[in-house]
Amino acid sequence: SVADRVTDLMARMTLDDKVGQMTQGERGAATPAQSAAARLGSILSGGGSTPTPNTPAAWADMIDAYQKAATSTGLGIPIIYGSDSVHGHNNVYGATVFPHNIGLGAANDPRLVEKIGAITADETAATGVKWAFAPCLCVARDDRWGRTYESYGEVPANAVANSVVIEGLQGRALGDPTSVLATAKHFIGDGGTTGGDDQGNTQISLEELRRIHLPPFRAAVAHGVGSVMISFNSWNGVKDHGNKFLITDLLKGELGFSGFVVSDWNGIDQIDGQEGFTAAEVKQAVNAGIDMVMVPYDYQKFVATLKAEVLNGDVPMSRVDDANRRILTKKFELGLFERPYTDRSLQKDFGSAAHRAVARQAVRESQVLLKNDGVLPLAKQNNKIFVAGKNANDMGNQAGGWTLTWQGQSGERVIPGTTILDGIKAGAGKGTVVTYDRAGNGIDRSYQVAVAVVGETPYAEGQGDRPNGLGLDAEDLALVGKLKASGVPTVLVTVSGRPLDISAQLPSVKGLVAAWLPGSEGAGVADVLYGDYNPTGKLSFTWPKSSAQEPINAGDGQQGLFPYGYGLSYRRHHR
Ligand code: IFM
Repeated sequence: SVADRVTDLMARMTLDDKVGQMTQGERGAATPAQSAAARLGSILSGGGSTPTPNTPAAWADMIDAYQKAATSTGLGIPIIYGSDSVHGHNNVYGATVFPHNIGLGAANDPRLVEKIGAITADETAATGVKWAFAPCLCVARDDRWGRTYESYGEVPANAVANSVVIEGLQGRALGDPTSVLATAKHFIGDGGTTGGDDQGNTQISLEELRRIHLPPFRAAVAHGVGSVMISFNSWNGVKDHGNKFLITDLLKGELGFSGFVVSDWNGIDQIDGQEGFTAAEVKQAVNAGIDMVMVPYDYQKFVATLKAEVLNGDVPMSRVDDANRRILTKKFELGLFERPYTDRSLQKDFGSAAHRAVARQAVRESQVLLKNDGVLPLAKQNNKIFVAGKNANDMGNQAGGWTLTWQGQSGERVIPGTTILDGIKAGAGKGTVVTYDRAGNGIDRSYQVAVAVVGETPYAEGQGDRPNGLGLDAEDLALVGKLKASGVPTVLVTVSGRPLDISAQLPSVKGLVAAWLPGSEGAGVADVLYGDYNPTGKLSFTWPKSSAQEPINAGDGQQGLFPYGYGLSYRRHHR
């Protein structure tokens, strides 16, 4: 059995071997030879840390080199390679990029999300990565937080329902070639910080922590999630990374989580609020129950420090053994000992039309129709459509953060797929003319309808907080002003990672669609605009009248612009 194999292996492991298993280095910091020499248990690619060229084959070559070094050194224990596949295998060029979680929360279709998990796993495993740092099960309570789009919704039920993605990622058995290890993150309270500060302080009672932030993790454990990542936030002033009650008592004890716990990037450094990590922080984090530390650069120092802490008795050997048992169990279950190398046969389906069709369906289902004064759906025939806005024809903007790079990047064609404009053009029927003019200067009364695709540009953790409000930027405001002045009936489409402050613009537009961050298949947005798909999406976040209402959440007594659960369709009494 796996348990016997782990016991047998551990009996032969030295302290160096065991400390190494608990250490995760970054590919940019440790070569395959260095990784093997330090007996590292894992290597990761942080956001944007990719081989050149950024192709599935180059990823496989890179990861296989780590495996070759690991399996031919010492006891030959394979590494587990991890990366953030948070909306598809988003670090790799050509991957199918799905809507970010906020859109999937609006879609409210857990079976579709499970399928997305399976496709993500397929494309991830095709490159040799057998560990996805996904799903993010945060319950984002303040839209000013820059990671709101990684949340399925503002109430725990959204993340609970969609945690079924874990079954898609991990497959029927971890040992299947198309399975990857999933990671429920970030434990716990990341979405509840004061003011929506990333890595901030979640100042709430244990009762509220249990009621709002714990249920998705309970569900994740029920789905058999293999790993859990600890959150950067503090709970009532204490960093989660050093909190034994949360990690050992609550997660491993009460929830019965039997997989392994990984830190976030340099997460242990923050326990004492000073730069870098000390021996005291290593001791506190490991004794709190963290099994593997994402160092990610100072892996040699970490290995030496943890070893010294074990030798001087500050970190008990029983804790090291427990961590190793947890990690090695997952490696055996994944079949890494039998098959350490990439299954390159999976690459034939990487970014395939079939995968993209599922992504397009997810985009359709994630659109939320918020206003329609008869302007939608757009007539496909004999129409004259004016399309404008910075997000109409920008693959990078519609994919958002965590796409090719950590923060994401604007760019018309940074990834393959269809923009929203592509979809509108492709869907146009006989006699319809589509004109694109980003700034909207060419608008005139000859157009029957204008579609303004506005909103946010890419950001990710640390750089996406908007404490000063969620209004449209100057370019968008100017565009909406021009369209209003033209008198042409206008549909506003917001591409954004959260609800935006649009109360002032709403009266001047005849239609409003929240597109969230659709990913690589922008044509799915056009499917809704043309009525090829009758909108079914419902808000999984209360849409505020203004940012001054933040935090605003279902059941808190505040009246937003659109309530939680709101969403129109084209036929009122459809079945
Ligand atoms: O998995 C991520 C996490 O969500 C935020 N910090 C970095 C990790 C690794 O990229």
